[in-house]
Amino acid sequence: MDLHGEVALVTGAARGIGQATAEKMGALGAAVILADMDLEGAEAGALSIEGAGGRAMALRMDVREAEDWEYAVETTLERYGGLHILVNNAGFDRPGNVQKISLDDFRAVLEVHLISCLLGIKAATYAFEEAGRGAVVNVSSLYAKIGGQGEAAYTAANAGILGLTKSAARDLAKLGVRVNCVLPGLTDTPAIREMMSDKVKRKLLAETPLGRMAQPHEIASVIAFLCSSEASFVTGATWEVSGGWNM
Ligand SMILES: NC(=O)c1ccc[n+]([C@@H]2O[C@H](COP(=O)([O-])OP(=O)(O)OC[C@H]3O[C@@H](n4cnc5c(N)ncnc54)[C@H](O)[C@@H]3O)[C@@H](O)[C@H]2O)c1
Repeated sequence: MDLHGEVALVTGAARGIGQATAEKMGALGAAVILADMDLEGAEAGALSIEGAGGRAMALRMDVREAEDWEYAVETTLERYGGLHILVNNAGFDRPGNVQKISLDDFRAVLEVHLISCLLGIKAATYAFEEAGRGAVVNVSSLYAKIGGQGEAAYTAANAGILGLTKSAARDLAKLGVRVNCVLPGLTDTPAIREMMSDKVKRKLLAETPLGRMAQPHEIASVIAFLCSSEASFVTGATWEVSGGWNM
């Protein structure tokens, strides 16, 4: 894989899967914009990429805001002269089962996961058209396929991402833009360390043939592959990176 000459914008890049993706893409030669609400974390990631000889910048943005997307794409074009890769990765969770979850929580999760993907694709497509090519990876979750118990909003938002990915893949193919989706299984990130009890982790790992969590770089490798020319005939695909969970 080689991403020299590519410019990549990765959301939720201050930590976890997003940070690992930014680092992977930087190591493969892309100039990387690490976008996150957590500017300090994004700056640390950018410094680490630059320290390893890559090109990177940090940007504070809220993926729910259309204006932030416009600013992010403009800033990217000014700084690096183009945009070729978009990774919609930012996420968070408001657990709750279908009986108990509040409408506010449900809407909040939809906004951060699903609506942000639409805003990102809309904002980036202008730059992709200018470049004559583009690759998008939307990060969903395996829960999109199997349903998460007590995770009504998260599951619905991530299932929506699968549909949006396929529609966007069809709509943008004529512009030379590929759109794919990655569905991680349980991955060892700050979010999981903060939110998931050991009991739930043990249950999920018992259902995972490889019997362990993914490390963020294992998800990042697949995202980078899908964004690279090595995946030039892959679009509208949903890639499970789950250690065999859901076979
Ligand atoms: N870790 C897992 O097991 C797992 C499994 C399946 C899917 N995923 C998905 O992978 C993605 C990354 O997960 P992670 O575990 O690395 O999470 P994380 O919480 O460790 O990192 C998420 C990042 O997104 C940022 N973010 C949240 N809301 C934002 C907003 N409105 N605007 C900008 N940035 C925002 C946070 O500041 C944080 O840096 C998420 O979409 C998540 O749903 C994770």
